[in-house]
Amino acid sequence: MHNDIQEILHSEEEIRDKVKELGEILTRDFEGRNPLVICVLKGAFIFMADLVKEIRVPLEMDFMAVSSYGASTKSSGVVKIIKDLDVSVEGRDVLIVEDIIDSGLTLSYLIDVLERRNAKSVTVVTLFDKPSGRSVDLNADYTGFTLPHAFVVGYGLDYAEYYRNLPYIGILKPEVYRK
Ligand code: XMP
Ligand code: MG
Repeated sequence: MHNDIQEILHSEEEIRDKVKELGEILTRDFEGRNPLVICVLKGAFIFMADLVKEIRVPLEMDFMAVSSYGASTKSSGVVKIIKDLDVSVEGRDVLIVEDIIDSGLTLSYLIDVLERRNAKSVTVVTLFDKPSGRSVDLNADYTGFTLPHAFVVGYGLDYAEYYRNLPYIGILKPEVYRK
């Protein structure tokens, strides 16, 4: 275990099994459709890469980067599109792939944007969920793991851009923030 990690919440093996399970469910639910799978950068990139290998229907992928305004560690609700999609979502069955839902503000903004652009349907899969952080009444259609109210890193998730490459999800030691 990395020295800055206080506790591993879900191991590499557990995550692998969960991603496979989500892929099987999504394969069944998207049978006969041709979804546009959207990765929300940067945090979801590892989940996206592992998940699409388990979804056995023809699909397209695109990438979008968003960020909250301001320097606060909490989402302000004002979301800025840093990198927009390359393709149109009009008439498409869209599957949003998220790393983690906390307040729900980022996701609520994204769904709104895609619906205003006339997507045929918008479905959300998130690997991690922190329901204790919610400020809007919004949940993913598919959720991997429910986490406690703690700041987590690994498997794509960062603190100051580090730790994304850890193969597991864990709680960062509080003293790391105070450095
Ligand atoms: P909201 O609050 O809009 O936030 O649902 C979603 C985004 O906030 C980031 N986030 C985290 N990133 N560890 C992280 O590395 C965490 O514990 C955490 N909680 C929220 C993340 O970018 C997510 O997409
Ligand atoms: Mg982040």
